[in-house]
Amino acid sequence: MSAALPLDSRYGSLAGKVALVTGASRGIGRAIALALGRRGAIVAVHYGREREKALDVAREIVDAGGQAFVLGADLAATEGVRVLLDGLHAALRERGLPEAFDILVNNAGEGLRARIAEVQSEDYDRIMQVNLKTPFFLIQQSLPYLRDGGRIVNISSMGTRAAYPRMSVYAPAKAGLEALTLVLAAELGARGITVNAVLPGATATDLNRDANDPVASQVVAQSIALGRVGQPGDIADIVAFLASHEGRWITGQKIDASGGQRL
Ligand SMILES: NC(=O)c1ccc[n+]([C@@H]2O[C@H](COP(=O)([O-])OP(=O)(O)OC[C@H]3O[C@@H](n4cnc5c(N)ncnc54)[C@H](OP(=O)(O)O)[C@@H]3O)[C@@H](O)[C@H]2O)c1
Repeated sequence: MSAALPLDSRYGSLAGKVALVTGASRGIGRAIALALGRRGAIVAVHYGREREKALDVAREIVDAGGQAFVLGADLAATEGVRVLLDGLHAALRERGLPEAFDILVNNAGEGLRARIAEVQSEDYDRIMQVNLKTPFFLIQQSLPYLRDGGRIVNISSMGTRAAYPRMSVYAPAKAGLEALTLVLAAELGARGITVNAVLPGATATDLNRDANDPVASQVVAQSIALGRVGQPGDIADIVAFLASHEGRWITGQKIDASGGQRL
């Protein structure tokens, strides 16, 4: 009989890690918060408007034996980053924890389906703000608090590698986020912080009406090698892997999370 392998508690566990997930009240962010919470992380569940839904997510983590709390901030507003980090620090202090954290997931995002001729300057600014400028400054302002060996995961989109009509602002915003990912991976490597981008394809959430619709999703599925649209949990497990000890040697990467959409 072979001897049992010794258990290594670093594997498969985020116990003791503190994670901030933006846009965690719904969709992909919700699934990421649950995935990290299930693995033992203390999760800051950020929301924009949907406080009740964020509270449900935090409750689900706590009911499963984990730890979580909610934080509200409008990430389309310039002061959103400050509001979010002030809230995070206060919540950690309340729990007797240091103001430091380990995992930052920039997930909150907004789409805009418009042809270039239809795009107004205000639309352009909002999409760039939520999808690129806010993650940029959230990372910048988080760095003094993000522990060495930490993780940054930026949620981009496979719409940066295949042309979809009416994504003339959204796709460039996400492409900027991917470029930022690459630069920061080099800059933060000395601190052992990994920085990666995850690129979902069509995923069934409020943001993607086609993927969320039983009929339209079947048409979309025809362009996906694995033959179906994504579910939020498909994306969340990839993020949890990147956040884990097992993901420690991956940095500066764009990881397609589309089930092979438009290969
Ligand atoms: N679903 C897809 O097919 C797909 C494909 C590629 C990439 N993505 C990317 O995946 C990420 C998550 O998308 P999703 O499909 O899960 O979207 P979703 O279901 O619409 O959820 C968006 C989340 O972001 C938050 N949010 C949006 N704008 C905000 C703002 N101005 N301030 C604060 N919070 C804000 C929302 O908070 P509240 O509801 O509390 O306001 C919500 O929690 C996004 O970055 C998106 O671009 C999605």
